[in-house]
Amino acid sequence: MTGEWDACVKKIEITQAEIVSRVHELGAQIATDYAGRNPVMIGALKGAMCFFADLVRAVPIPLEVDFITASSYGAGTSSQGEVTLSHLPETSLKGRDVIIVEDILDTGHTLSRILAVFNEQSPASLAVCTFLDKSSRREYAVPVRYRGFDIPDYFVVGYGLDLGGVYRNLPYVGVYEPEETSKNG
Ligand code: PRP
Repeated sequence: MTGEWDACVKKIEITQAEIVSRVHELGAQIATDYAGRNPVMIGALKGAMCFFADLVRAVPIPLEVDFITASSYGAGTSSQGEVTLSHLPETSLKGRDVIIVEDILDTGHTLSRILAVFNEQSPASLAVCTFLDKSSRREYAVPVRYRGFDIPDYFVVGYGLDLGGVYRNLPYVGVYEPEETSKNG
């Protein structure tokens, strides 16, 4: 919405100011809930990169960070039907308080797979924090402890969310006008 590069964005769904405010609310809540527990926060790449970086800086308690790379989309807007975990956390999760940080929860396929893999390590607790929740699209039940925003079934880009690898660096969440919309990521 600033020039030709983001001309595909027809509407800003969540502004930068709204993101900053909500991330700080979530961070404060996590700090309260995990005080004295040294949680490990695990960002799901690539989509969660912006949210993760902002969120961990909004949690003013000792914590550790790690990453998982999960992918279920290709270059378009449709699911590839399979979740690929191409990088797993290096941190041992056994007995740890783990918080998985995602950019968007859509069908729940990705997070249900991540939860299953992490649970095999017997963490002390396992919580999900998602920036966006398209709850109307859910196919797999996922327990969400922290949620930034619930959004309608629009295809959105920005703040980590992409289309074909592009638009992740938009500082807001915008509604992309696609020719066909089925899934988001
Ligand atoms: C997106 C998003 C979630 C997942 C959500 O990842 O980051 O991981 O899809 O969809 P689901 O609930 O239907 O599984 P994507 O596969 O696009 O990879 P990315 O994080 O690299 O963008």
